[in-house]
Amino acid sequence: MYSLLKAMRALLVLDLCTTVGALAGWPEGGTIVAGNAVRFDRQTWESSLAQPNATGTVPVSGFDISQRWPSQEVDGWTLSLNVSSDVPESQSMNADNATTGTFTGTSIFFKAPENIQGAFTNHTALDETTWKICVNVVPNGPQEDQSAAGNGTCGFLSSQCVTDLQQAYADKFSGSQDCYGTPPSTPSSCGGIVDTSNFQTQQLPLTSINGTEVFVTASASHEAGDETAWNNATRQVWPVLTVWGWNTRAQAPQDSSPQVQLSCIRANTVEPGSDNPPSSAEPTFRGAAVLALGIASVTTWYTYL
Ligand SMILES: *[C@@H]1O[C@H](CO)[C@@H](O)[C@H](O)[C@H]1NC(C)=O
Ligand SMILES: *[C@@H]1O[C@H](CO)[C@@H](O)[C@H](O)[C@H]1NC(C)=O
Ligand SMILES: *[C@@H]1O[C@H](CO)[C@@H](O)[C@H](O)[C@H]1NC(C)=O
Ligand SMILES: *[C@@H]1O[C@H](CO)[C@@H](O)[C@H](O)[C@H]1NC(C)=O
Ligand SMILES: *[C@@H]1O[C@H](CO)[C@@H](O)[C@H](O)[C@H]1NC(C)=O
Ligand SMILES: *[C@@H]1O[C@H](CO)[C@@H](O)[C@H](O)[C@H]1NC(C)=O
Ligand SMILES: *[C@@H]1O[C@H](CO)[C@@H](O)[C@H](O)[C@H]1NC(C)=O
Repeated sequence: MYSLLKAMRALLVLDLCTTVGALAGWPEGGTIVAGNAVRFDRQTWESSLAQPNATGTVPVSGFDISQRWPSQEVDGWTLSLNVSSDVPESQSMNADNATTGTFTGTSIFFKAPENIQGAFTNHTALDETTWKICVNVVPNGPQEDQSAAGNGTCGFLSSQCVTDLQQAYADKFSGSQDCYGTPPSTPSSCGGIVDTSNFQTQQLPLTSINGTEVFVTASASHEAGDETAWNNATRQVWPVLTVWGWNTRAQAPQDSSPQVQLSCIRANTVEPGSDNPPSSAEPTFRGAAVLALGIASVTTWYTYL
C-alpha cells in the first residue's frame, strides 16, 4: 500500500514536471494558460495586463478559508477579468524583433477579502490548510449574454442546467478533492451548450487569492487597433465553476459534499481612454467612457452536508 502510494506520488510529480516543462514562460504553474498566452512569460504578460483596456468584476460567495473547512460563507470574494487590447508580439518569447503584430489578452483571477489574503502570506498557514479549491473555466462561452442582467447570472444557461451542473460536480467530487479527476458527464438539461469535457481545471493556489491569474488567454495575432479582436474579447462570457473542497487534513466525514458555484464573468467596464467596442448589438456601449456590458453570476448555493 505504502509503495503504491509512493509510486503514485512519483507519477504525479513526473506528470507535474511534464506540464511545467511545456510552459517555459509559466514555470511555477498555478495558472491555466490557453491560446497564445503560452507565447509569453508571466512577467511580460502581467506587465501588459496590469494596465487593461477593459475590466469586469462580480462578487462571489466564498468561504472563510483562513478557518478550517467547512468554515462559513463570507462576503468580499470577487471574480475578475482584465482585457488588454495590445500585448505586443515582439515581447513574446522567441519573437523576431521585427514582428509588429499584437495580441488581445484576457486574464481571469479571484480575490479573497483582504484579511483572508493576509492569512496565506504565512507559510505555516499554507502548509496546514484544510481547503482544496478547484476552479473550472469554460473556454468556449458565448459572446452574447442574452440576460445582460448585470447581477451575475449565467443567462445563456437554463437554471436547470446550472443547478444540475453544480450538483454533478458536488456529487462527483464528494469523495475526493482531486481537482484533476475525470469531470462528471454534462447534464442533459444543458442541451449541449456546454460540455464538461472541455472545462479547463486548476487547483487554486492559495497564494493566488490576492488576484493572481487563474486563467490567461490571448487572441490570434492581429494588427494593432483590430476592432474584431477587441470586440470579441470584451463580449466574451467566461463561465467559472468553483468547487470549494477539502484535503485529507480536514478529516471530512465520508458523506461530505463540496459547495459548488457557477459564475459568469465578462468585461463590464471600458477603461478611460480606451475605445468602446464596436458593438451595434449592445446599445449600452454608446456614448460614455465607462459602460456596463452584461455580467452574470449565480449565487445560488447547494449544501449537501
Ligand atoms: C488588472 O487590472 C488592474 C488595474 O485595473 C491591475 O491593478 C491588476 O494588477 C490587474 N490584474 C491582473 C491579474 O492582470
Ligand atoms: C531583439 O532585440 C534585443 C535588444 O535590441 C536583442 O537583445 C535581442 O537579441 C533581439 N532578439 C532577436 C531574436 O533578434
Ligand atoms: C501562521 O499560521 C499559523 C497556522 O495558521 C498560526 O498558528 C500562526 O500564528 C501564524 N503566524 C503568524 C506570524 O501569523
Ligand atoms: C438576475 O437577473 C435576471 C434577469 O434580469 C433575473 O431573472 C434573476 O432573477 C436575477 N438573479 C438574481 C440572483 O438576482
Ligand atoms: C500575490 O502574492 C504573490 C506572492 O505571494 C506575488 O508574487 C504576486 O505578485 C501577488 N499578486 C498580486 C496580483 O498581487
Ligand atoms: C472573433 O470571434 C469570432 C467568433 O468566435 C472568430 O471567428 C474570429 O476569429 C474572432 N476574431 C479575432 C480577431 O479574434
Ligand atoms: C488600450 O490602451 C492603450 C494604452 O492606454 C491604448 O493605446 C489603446 O488604444 C487601447 N485600446 C483600445 C482598443 O482602446
